Amino acid sequence: MAFGLCFGVTLLLSVWSTATCNIPDGFLHMECCDRYFMIAVDLSITGKEPHFEAVDETGVYPITELYAATCGYRVSVFPLLGREELRASYFSCQTDNQDDKVFTFNFNLIATHEGQEVIYALNKTCSPSLPWSPREVTCEENYMEVSVKSDVVCPTGMKRDDWDAVAQTAYVSATSDWQVMFQRAEEQSLPMDLTEARKLGYAFDLTDGRLVFRTPYGQPDSYSTEVNDVPVEVVHATLFSRQSWMVLMVDLVAACSMHEGLYDDGGYLMWETPEVLHPLVFNLNESQLNIGLNGELVEQPVAEERGFIVERRNTTAQIGIPYNAEGGYRKSSASGDLYEFYIFHFYLEQILVDEDHVETRLRFHRTLITPLLPRPIFTENQTVLEERTFTVRLGDVPEDVELAAVHLNGQEFAVPFTNTSSCTITKVVHPNNTHCYTLKVPFDDPVVIQQFSKEDASMEHRLHINYTLMVLPEKEPYYHSASVVALTDVSPPAFDTVCSESGISFKLDHRPFDYLWELSIGSDPLTSELAARHGYIMSNDSQSLLLQVPLFTHGYKYKDVTLEGFSGTFEILVHDHETSEVHSSAVKTCPFTTTELIMCSTDGRMTVVADLTLAISSGGVPARTNLVDKYCGPKEADDTKALFSFPLNGCGSTVKLGKEYVIYENEIFFSKTLRSVKNPVDSSNDVDRVTVQCMYPLAGLYRLFSVYRFESDVPGVGRIVHSAHITEGLQNPTIEPTTVLQTPATTTRLTRRPVTMRPAYRPSAKHIKVSSFLRKISKKGARGSSQAKVYSAIF
Ligand SMILES: *[C@@H]1O[C@H](CO)[C@@H](O)[C@H](O)[C@H]1NC(C)=O
Ligand SMILES: *[C@@H]1O[C@H](CO)[C@@H](O)[C@H](O)[C@H]1NC(C)=O
Ligand SMILES: *[C@@H]1O[C@H](CO)[C@@H](O)[C@H](O)[C@H]1NC(C)=O
Ligand SMILES: *[C@@H]1O[C@H](CO)[C@@H](O)[C@H](O)[C@H]1NC(C)=O
Ligand SMILES: *[C@@H]1O[C@H](CO)[C@@H](O)[C@H](O)[C@H]1NC(C)=O
Ligand SMILES: *[C@@H]1O[C@H](CO)[C@@H](O)[C@H](O)[C@H]1NC(C)=O
Ligand SMILES: *[C@@H]1O[C@H](CO)[C@@H](O)[C@H](O)[C@H]1NC(C)=O
Ligand SMILES: *[C@@H]1O[C@H](CO)[C@@H](O)[C@H](O)[C@H]1NC(C)=O
Repeated sequence: MAFGLCFGVTLLLSVWSTATCNIPDGFLHMECCDRYFMIAVDLSITGKEPHFEAVDETGVYPITELYAATCGYRVSVFPLLGREELRASYFSCQTDNQDDKVFTFNFNLIATHEGQEVIYALNKTCSPSLPWSPREVTCEENYMEVSVKSDVVCPTGMKRDDWDAVAQTAYVSATSDWQVMFQRAEEQSLPMDLTEARKLGYAFDLTDGRLVFRTPYGQPDSYSTEVNDVPVEVVHATLFSRQSWMVLMVDLVAACSMHEGLYDDGGYLMWETPEVLHPLVFNLNESQLNIGLNGELVEQPVAEERGFIVERRNTTAQIGIPYNAEGGYRKSSASGDLYEFYIFHFYLEQILVDEDHVETRLRFHRTLITPLLPRPIFTENQTVLEERTFTVRLGDVPEDVELAAVHLNGQEFAVPFTNTSSCTITKVVHPNNTHCYTLKVPFDDPVVIQQFSKEDASMEHRLHINYTLMVLPEKEPYYHSASVVALTDVSPPAFDTVCSESGISFKLDHRPFDYLWELSIGSDPLTSELAARHGYIMSNDSQSLLLQVPLFTHGYKYKDVTLEGFSGTFEILVHDHETSEVHSSAVKTCPFTTTELIMCSTDGRMTVVADLTLAISSGGVPARTNLVDKYCGPKEADDTKALFSFPLNGCGSTVKLGKEYVIYENEIFFSKTLRSVKNPVDSSNDVDRVTVQCMYPLAGLYRLFSVYRFESDVPGVGRIVHSAHITEGLQNPTIEPTTVLQTPATTTRLTRRPVTMRPAYRPSAKHIKVSSFLRKISKKGARGSSQAKVYSAIF
């Protein structure tokens, strides 16, 4: 159940003074509270803080600070809420009081509209429903007010001696006019009349049924004491009047706890008040507490439900206000670090009943402020390396703090970002009155500092963030900084390789940092031009690079030649983009099968696998073949093929020297004896001949004709020429002169050759048919001349 709730009316005001403008709706709010008028003004509508004047039939009284304290007013400004409040006690100097039941307050509100002062004359009438207790004490922020029923019985708590002393003084000095004496601990002031007392700031009033006494805090006649370690300010006034043979005497004691609130680590602001503030007045029998904020009171159990702590310890009431209590106000503050504090407009009612069943109602209005509490905000590194973007969350930013700018590695960016497209900052508001900002900066943004580490094959991305936050509304700056670092892998590209019958293919998925690396085949950078020149098939899109390298194209190295096949190796070199140093390479070796092969090595060896199917058809046996030097036989042979490997200069090779090329030539002969057994027609003319040749460019040779050493820059170009059976009619059209070309020395030179030697470039074919020109010659049967013609065409 809510106690003492103000029942308010928002008035649409009509103005009956000189003012001509209308007050906007909701600008003014007037309420009747249990013991005071509450008038609230919206500051967002009036420019300057408005002020008030109290009005009665005797005149107009500006409510200044001093006047407010003596006359029962309290003006508070709440900048956080954007409002100003006037609390006027029902016993305030200018309030019209009818039987302590109907109170009317006339006042002027002086506001500034568009630079002009406007006076609104207003009034409010209240009839509080809560009956007056015999004794009421209000501990306002700026004054203490006591009212007692005028027929209250004589006080009981006073010591007999005290009473005697006071009575004595009263008797001696008393006149029929009321006089007052102030009592402090052991001493008492001289009696003075009420006019004199009023000049000192004290107010006395006699209403229909009540005697009212009001005093500002800190008067000379007040005294501070401690009750159960709680500071208490007390003013003890004794009013007396001599009425013929007797002296009327009324003790008026105002005693208020001056506790300022203590913030404990548990998140409560503890406020204390002794239950027995002064022995004279509050001779405690039982007490009840109603607690609230902003003028609203609720019973103790309800308050406890709302998180308040209520404890009575050693006749001291301790109230704990949770820092996040509804109705409290929070404010950020930046002084070096970020802090916050809470403000509570605390309201407490204590109902005490003494042994004589006289009820005393005590009300406290207190503005309690917590100390500055650290309010840390944090940054959280939410970077996901795969996204290649720094993601940093600035969290727990209080609602009255705004991000104004960020410095990224020293560069200023105003928020919201306008002059950067790649970086973003987004604000997310949380239900718990905090918000967060998520900053995203791509690793590759120019603002990010990058450092490449070759050793670790990694790239370090570094971002220093300095957030400029503003505490509103005063725009106090607060800086929060964070550094984030991310290491990304910049390892050299790794190719996926696949062997096929016709060559090797290399596949590379592009990565963002691949620009750090360059690819080459030998010393030539891999470009689409190079690929076209050498017959590589290259496709390169935004996703990946695919390079298919047909067998026998430029760049291959061959090894392990056997009758069945050989292995071919292709290498792509990976260079450091900056230094061009070779960092690593993608090497792939694939096995290939072939029926024929010729290799002319740089160190002067010819390795030949020759298809001798024709020889078999004419009765030859591959194992029994030999070169020009008949002691040079095959290293290996099977039913159809023979493998020879011999020095270029050996085994009876002939050397033909041209202008640019040198050609080593040998021939594979079949055993005639065997053949003649099968075929009695013995003629050297009708024997299949297999000529093998190696051709080297002269420019790349170091020592020509040296017996001991042959050395060439490049492997030679080999050729195997099958010369068809000459005998007419026996010619099998499928058995045509065939050439196997391999390991071309340098493409540039080779491309200059006549097409007869390098027929249409078809890199995927192992066997390249000799052009019709060559075929014609061989069909004519002029073997020797055909060779000569071919070579003269070459040279
Ligand atoms: C109080 O104000 C109302 C308008 O709100 C006005 O009609 C009335 O006359 C005023 N009363 C006094 C006593 O000033
Ligand atoms: C209770 O208050 C009395 C009077 O101030 C004091 O002497 C006593 O030590 C207090 N007891 C406790 C437990 O605080
Ligand atoms: C209050 O006083 C009455 C009468 O003297 C008594 O019956 C009652 O128990 C007292 N209450 C407390 C809490 O002391
Ligand atoms: C962005 O704009 C601010 C102010 O306009 C300027 O100081 C800052 O240098 C700009 N930043 C960039 C990266 O252009
Ligand atoms: C506020 O809520 C957000 C989101 O739920 C949470 O991350 C944050 O820690 C909360 N802050 C406080 C101070 O409770
Ligand atoms: C952040 O910026 C402010 C203002 O430019 C500066 O005073 C402060 O030293 C900076 N803090 C860091 C950690 O860079
Ligand atoms: C931030 O997150 C990234 C990615 O998870 C991580 O590599 C890095 O070490 C983290 N810490 C800092 C201080 O940047
Ligand atoms: C392949 O394309 C990418 C861009 O998609 C380019 O950066 C790269 O240099 C290209 N690579 C080659 C070998 O052409």
